Amino acid sequence: MIDEIIDLKKEQIASANRPRYKYSIAARILFLAMDIVTGRKSTLSKAKLLETLACIPYREWEIRQYIRMTRRYRNQEFVNWADAILKWGRAAQDNEYMHLLVMNEKMKEDGIKDAWYLFPFIPYFMVLSYIPLSRMLALFSIRRAFLFMAEFEDHAEHVYAQFVSENPEWDEQPVKNELVKTYADVDTWGDVFRRVGLDERDHRNNCFAACGKPEYIFKYEGMPSSNDLFY
Ligand SMILES: [Fe+2]
Ligand SMILES: [Fe+2]
Repeated sequence: MIDEIIDLKKEQIASANRPRYKYSIAARILFLAMDIVTGRKSTLSKAKLLETLACIPYREWEIRQYIRMTRRYRNQEFVNWADAILKWGRAAQDNEYMHLLVMNEKMKEDGIKDAWYLFPFIPYFMVLSYIPLSRMLALFSIRRAFLFMAEFEDHAEHVYAQFVSENPEWDEQPVKNELVKTYADVDTWGDVFRRVGLDERDHRNNCFAACGKPEYIFKYEGMPSSNDLFY
């Protein structure tokens, strides 16, 4: 299994030590808006909101590429490129959705209630605002959409790396939950969150590769070959 050769602790430290990407004004506004609603401190409720939003651009890209592939089916080179984006979008949104389920299981296990901003209408309003924003950005420039997502994922990777170091008790908390075990077959909740953070790095790497900035890819030992999709 691939996770056996990945040193999750080492990669969490590497994520934390790597300087953040120099975020655009648009990305800074998004992160600030999130902090205003949820507070600056990382919490499981905040992670659930982040994961809810994280699926959206991938879903929008998938829909967009499917339409374009159908329209331009005679152009094999284009179809291959669009198909790669579509498959990546499907896998990434499934992975983000799994993160959401994992956060939910952790909250259930610890008996933590959802924060106020996870009750309707706030997530609905945020999702309904983010869908047209993602759609418009992809329509305007798909490469800019990839770069914007790379910024989002870079931010997420750093958030999870810090979140784990703020909660050392997770390294003493064994994972017994069957659903979480299907996501990551690791011993402790600390490693589950490290795995989530490393998934965000995979997403980040693919986004940077897809937008033509492969120099920002941050490799690690045991990186899955599916990451070779764009580089
Ligand atoms: Fe995620
Ligand atoms: Fe992600």
